[in-house]
Parts: sequence; C-alpha cells; structure tokens
Amino acid sequence: ARLLLINGPNLNLLGTREPGVYGHRTLANIETDLCAQASAMGHDLACYQSNHEGDLVDRIQQARDEGVAFILINPGAYTHTSVAIRDAFAGVAIPFVEIHLSNIHSREAFRHHSYLSDIAAGVIVGLGELGYQLGLTAAHAKLGSH
Ligand code: DQA
Repeated sequence: ARLLLINGPNLNLLGTREPGVYGHRTLANIETDLCAQASAMGHDLACYQSNHEGDLVDRIQQARDEGVAFILINPGAYTHTSVAIRDAFAGVAIPFVEIHLSNIHSREAFRHHSYLSDIAAGVIVGLGELGYQLGLTAAHAKLGSH
C-alpha cells in the first residue's frame, strides 16, 4: 500500500538536536531505513518533513488525493498546539499512528496533551527511532500486504 511518513518542526535537526533526548541518528538515516523496511513489506513509503503548520495540513490533504492508506506522523511541537492538523486528519479520514521519539509524559506538562492522540489509530512514545519501525509494523498489520 501507499504509506506516508510525516515529520513536523525541528525534526530536520535530528542528529544534532538535543541528542540526549532525541538520539544521534539523522532524519535522513531514519527515513532511508524505514523506506527499505517498507519496501521489504511490500509497501511504498513516501517521506515528508516541514517546519510549517500549513504545509503539513496541505500534505495531509494531498495524501487523500494520492490514495495514501496509512500515515505515520511525528508532529513535533504542533502535537501540543495544532487544531488545524487534527482537523486535517479528521477531514481526510486516513488512519494514522502518532509517534514521539521522547516520552512526552515524562517531560514538561505542556507536552502531556496531544490534539491528535484521541483520533489516532495508536500512539507510540519514548522508544526513539524504534517508534517509527513499530509504527510501520502497525500499519502493515492493519493493512495487510496489499
Ligand atoms: C517530539 C516531542 C515534542 O514535544 C517536541 O516538540 C518535538 C519532538 C518527540 O519526537 O519526542 O519536537 O514530538
């Protein structure tokens, strides 16, 4: 199936950004490995990153036109602020898994609430890069290999 990985603001800095929290791997490293895993499972994974809320909304809307069957998203800080991204997901009705590298529940109180979690198919937090792989596994399990 057609799958989409979306990373939100500041995730383009992975590798150098607070490595104690987010690890040493770059976003390019993570995307390359995830694409290979998706191919091995018979899926076609596209990757997108933006620092801009409206661009993320546009990309989610575009996903419906492309026939994307499942989205993996790390919305970054927009997790905690964006009604617009929530409404985009509700609007396109594409199932998605919300992923956070860090355990947002062990951090500042403002990171404990997500505008997306209650409409997500699932939420993965605190497992670092493994979270993306688990998200892909979940998409595969939900979709089958078609
Ligand atoms: C994050 C957690 C968010 O609170 C933060 O704003 C991020 C990254 C994570 O992957 O742990 O940018 O989504």
